[in-house]
Amino acid sequence: MKNIISLTLILTLAGSAFAQGASFAYPQDGDTLVAGSSIDIRIDRPTPSAPTTEAGIGLGMSPCSSESCPSPETSFEHLFYAGGFNPQRPSQVAAGEDFNAFQNFTVTVPSISGSAILGFLHSSFGEGASGYFPFFESVNITVNIISGSQ
Ligand SMILES: *[C@@H]1O[C@H](CO)[C@@H](O)[C@H](O)[C@H]1NC(C)=O
Ligand SMILES: *[C@@H]1O[C@H](CO)[C@@H](O)[C@H](O)[C@H]1NC(C)=O
Repeated sequence: MKNIISLTLILTLAGSAFAQGASFAYPQDGDTLVAGSSIDIRIDRPTPSAPTTEAGIGLGMSPCSSESCPSPETSFEHLFYAGGFNPQRPSQVAAGEDFNAFQNFTVTVPSISGSAILGFLHSSFGEGASGYFPFFESVNITVNIISGSQ
């Protein structure tokens, strides 16, 4: 019992120390995208409070039904990228941009009509006094896709 409590405490502390996750800088929740167009998906990775080793990321999109959107934890209809995550801090920051480390993924917007979920799964390891603590997250936004040929 004592071990379970201390493990829970460690996980809670690890969670709070390493919980700062990655997020979509572009596009943003609610944005409208044009099917067939090429866009840069920018994923920001604010500096974690502890030394962190990035593991990987899977980025994809699925159409939503009228009731719900498929979770990135369950499926992607379109997989844009699966591999290492290597966010880099910008060397110069233009007005209106942020200082976060980020990685751009250039993708072609799929032929979806209407609401779609754009999501990624991300994992990394935070380094603590007693070892490496895995961090997992599933992040999503909802976008609206319109036809490019009017
Ligand atoms: C990353 O994508 C954003 C959004 O399109 C763009 O503003 C920025 O110039 C891109 N940066 C790089 C280094 O490709
Ligand atoms: C999308 O992310 C929100 C948190 O921002 C979460 O509450 C929701 O369950 C996620 N949706 C899916 C389908 O994973």
